[in-house]
Parts: sequence; C-alpha cells; structure tokens
Amino acid sequence: MLLPLLLLASLPSLSLPFSIPSPLPAPLPARTSLFSSTMDPPARVAPSAGWTPEWENRPGLAPEEFLNSDPAKPDIGASIYECPLTLWDAENIDLAEGQASAKELPHCPAEIKASAEDNTAGRKYFEANGTKIRAQLREHGAVWLRGFSLPQSVAGFREVHEALGLQPCLDPLHSSGLRKFASERDALYEEVNKPALRGHYIGLHSESTAKRTAAYAAFVCFQRATESGGRFLVADGARILAEMDPALLRKLYERKVRISVSNLDVPPELPRALKDGFKKVVAKAVAPKFDMDLEMIYESDGKPGRLQAVEELESPINRHPVTKQPVWFCNAHNHLRYLRDRRPCGVPEVGMTDVFFGDLENLSPAECAEVKRASEACITSLPMEPGDVLLVDNYRALHGRDVFEGDRFHAVSWFTWDDNEKWRGDERRGNEKDGLNKIVNQYMDWLPKDF
Ligand SMILES: [Fe+2]
Repeated sequence: MLLPLLLLASLPSLSLPFSIPSPLPAPLPARTSLFSSTMDPPARVAPSAGWTPEWENRPGLAPEEFLNSDPAKPDIGASIYECPLTLWDAENIDLAEGQASAKELPHCPAEIKASAEDNTAGRKYFEANGTKIRAQLREHGAVWLRGFSLPQSVAGFREVHEALGLQPCLDPLHSSGLRKFASERDALYEEVNKPALRGHYIGLHSESTAKRTAAYAAFVCFQRATESGGRFLVADGARILAEMDPALLRKLYERKVRISVSNLDVPPELPRALKDGFKKVVAKAVAPKFDMDLEMIYESDGKPGRLQAVEELESPINRHPVTKQPVWFCNAHNHLRYLRDRRPCGVPEVGMTDVFFGDLENLSPAECAEVKRASEACITSLPMEPGDVLLVDNYRALHGRDVFEGDRFHAVSWFTWDDNEKWRGDERRGNEKDGLNKIVNQYMDWLPKDF
C-alpha cells in the first residue's frame, strides 16, 4: 500500500520536512527487515502448491470482443451495495475440534466441466443448475466452472452471476480509489494484470479487512497469460487450519494478530514534534480513505524513523457465518514480510506489509515457515483459461496469483449477502470518485491490490 505517500505527494497544501520518493516501481531492491538486515538478501524461491491441474489450451476472444458490455443491461455501478461489514465470530473456538472437522471436508475447489450441451444452453444452464452450484460452493469453499463459453466476455460473465442470483457489491477497499474497474457498469474489477506486477507473487488472502469482507467472489479469465504462468491460487481456509501445527495455531489464536499495511520512512533524526505532526497528518488525511481501522505506529518493526499503518487487533481464525466451521481467516501468507522477502515480490518498500502477534512481536522464522508450509500444502494452482470462472466463498477460501509473463486479463466481481438483509445492510452508493481518488488512480497501475 503505497497510497499514503502518494496521497501526501498529491496534497498541494502540504509541505513536508523531507522529500517524497518518485512513485516509480523499483526493481526488487535489496531489502532490510528484522531478519535480513545483518545478512545478504535471502534467495527468492517460487512458492509451492499442493495441486497443479494441467492446462487445456482453449482459445478465447480478442480483447475488443471480451471487453464488450451489454448496453441493454442497467448500470449496476450507479447504485451498488457497499461491501458488507466483516462478521466476526471468533470467541471460544475449540481448535482441536475445528481441525478434526475440517479434515472431513471435500477438496476445494469443486470442478464443474462444461459439456457441449451445457454450452449450447448458455444462461439457461446456470439458471437450471444454480441451486446445485451454490450448494457446492458452500460445501467445497470454491467452485471452478471450467470450459464454459458464456463467460468468455464481460457481458456473458454478468449473465452467469445474475443467473446464479449473486448480488454485486463494492470491493472492501473501494473507498481508497485503489481498485480499478474493468467495467464499472457491470461491477467488474480488474485483477492484478499490469506488466509492472507480473513478476510479483500474490500470496493467499481473503478479500477482507478487519472491517469489511465480501461474502463471495467470482474470478473470471478472459485471457490467460500469453507467454507463461499466471495460475490463479485458491486454498480452503478450513484445510489450512487442519494442516497447521496445533501449537502455533493456539499461539496465534490466543495472542491474535495485527497487520501492518504500509511503511513510511522518515529521517530518524527529525525532531519529535515534526515526526508527531507527520503522523497526525497521515492519520487524519490519509488513513480514513481506506475505510480501515488503522493505527499509525513508529518503529514497530524496529527500523528507525519508520511509521507503519497497522490494522487493529484481529483473530486469525473465524467461524464461517453460515456453517460455523472454524476457518483460517488470516492474510498472513500474503502479508508476512519474512515470506515476501523470500519469493518473487515486486512491491517497493513503502508498500511492504507484515504480520505481528497482537502485542507487535514478530513471528519467528520457523513460525513464518510453518504458515507457508501449511498454506501452500492446501493450494490448488488453477490453470484458468478463457471463460473459466472461480466462485469463492470469501469466508472459507483464500486466493492469490502466481507470477506470469506476457499479457493477461482476469477480472473479478464481489458479492454481498443476497439472502440475509441484516448481514448485507442497506448501504448503497454510486461510484463517483472524488478528486483525490482520481489523482491517486493515476499512480495505481503498478501497485498490487492484494492486501
Ligand atoms: Fe484478492
């Protein structure tokens, strides 16, 4: 999350006692962190995955065709639901029982392969099978709709989720201006396809902050990476819970976690009053744009002069709102600095994240490695091809994206609770962006939207 610095750079009335770096991507600089500051940068190794289905090499449409929206359809974006508030149910979880019950769950994702008849039926297939597909989504945590021709375009993809009865909502971080639409009138956001980020591995995360969480997601491939890579990652949070070392799980559950989402480095020798002033500016002018509860903390990772934006205390485990199954509901695999420093990562220092225990103590290298092992053992690394859709229960399954080369076009729609008005809430809003968001968006093409 480089946004705070960029926002500060864009505030014309603000004069700072130090210079702000140019918002250009840096080519994998040598980083410093608690674990690497006294040694050479660690080797970067591609993460692993438990399952890697084969590609089928199906063709897709040309960009001028797949980007077509249906002008006869109403503009969803004009009055879309807000992303619903996060439903926390994390007290008094029996971890041993949760691990045991998770082991009984079926593989995530379920795979539904289109037949020629299914594709001939088009939207009618999804209307006829919607109840069954949504039951599988609940049971497996995700459903891979593979080889369907209807969702090969923006217009067709909308037909699919409308036929399934899904209700679009905004991204949890929409208010930041970070999230860019592929088609605003269809409530379809871009995924992280930009060339500057194709070498950046996006680890497992739910589309969630401590404050807001989408109920479901539908990820769609319109164009697979033209040269190589770009697999989409999905993992069952319940299975990660089952996989993880019980002692570490208990430690994390009892101490809870805090997630740092940005590093703002100011000269450590600055007078205290100036440092405090800077902190207040960020806290009042920038942090509220994110609709997150952020605390600005100096030097929580031990680096002199570093101001970190840190989310409030949260549980790494949560019960699923409907099934009540305890689930690993934590973005640590994506956000842990120790892991980012050891895999392909293209994020500038200011956008680097980290995860701490609730008292801001770091996880040890061995604990980070266990989060990695347990998470990656549960990953299915999907070869999504044009028309493939991955439906995700966002309280159950986590997602990510492997590195790629060439051009790639994947997109995503988020959905609120279509069958629970209380959880959904009544808040709707248009997508008008204020001037600040428009300025920010100019800089955003190379940033990951993965926190
Ligand atoms: Fe995501």
